[in-house]
Amino acid sequence: MIRLNHVSKIYGDGSKKAVDDLSWDIEDGKITGFIGPNGAGKTTTLKMITGILAPSEGTIEINGKDIQKDPLEAKRQFGFVSDDPDAFLRVRGIEYLNFMADIYGVGTEERQRFIEETAKRFEMEENLSSRIMSYSHGMRQKIMVMGALIHKPPVWILDEPLTGLDPRSAHELKQMMREHADAGNAVLFSTHVLEVAEKLCDRIAIIHHGRQVYLGTLEELKAAYPDQTLENIFLEITEHA
Ligand SMILES: Nc1ncnc2c1ncn2[C@@H]1O[C@H](COP(=O)(O)OP(=O)(O)O)[C@@H](O)[C@H]1O
Ligand SMILES: [Mg+2]
Repeated sequence: MIRLNHVSKIYGDGSKKAVDDLSWDIEDGKITGFIGPNGAGKTTTLKMITGILAPSEGTIEINGKDIQKDPLEAKRQFGFVSDDPDAFLRVRGIEYLNFMADIYGVGTEERQRFIEETAKRFEMEENLSSRIMSYSHGMRQKIMVMGALIHKPPVWILDEPLTGLDPRSAHELKQMMREHADAGNAVLFSTHVLEVAEKLCDRIAIIHHGRQVYLGTLEELKAAYPDQTLENIFLEITEHA
């Protein structure tokens, strides 16, 4: 579970809050879709949860570990896929995966099993010995997902993970997210593609101008707006917010 307690972020000169007073529990056993228009504050929030950015106000716990006070323990709890897969361009896919496995102390057999299985699911077997530089955006995305999950973290945090994935890989990743949540873990991912959120998520967290607009199940949201698509509900909510 991820617990946000009155979290805000002010960048630079502090004229405006990029994230404004979020207090949310992201529950275990559920896929939570984090949605909001471009610039709403999704990436900023995910970077605070993962300890890349410090919050200006508030506290964040991942499975009870405070990301500011106890960063090492907190970081063991999650795997993070950033929205920018263009790191580590000079290394080969397999080198990157071994590097991530080393960092988290994943044993040889365990990592081999993981790499074999996920490379198959993502159709990456042929590409692991090539440099990440030579990969397409979608292939970079896939190798980053593999690296983020190689230590089998309980909590998954993914920033726009489906962007640029071909349909088969997107399907596999969605399936993996579902399996992981069904096994009792928290999966939090951001998207601005509402069809994806609508099909995949158990819960929806909507932000707009850094402020929380809605957190709850998709059913509750739809019950409040009968006979409307998530797109229409979203447009209405973000207009009035
Ligand atoms: N490093 C930064 N410095 C200053 N402002 C930033 C920085 N990163 C993001 N912002 C601003 O914070 C707001 C939220 O951005 P972001 O979290 O990237 O939104 P989203 O991921 O929902 O598109 C935007 O107004 C953006 O311009
Ligand atoms: Mg973003």
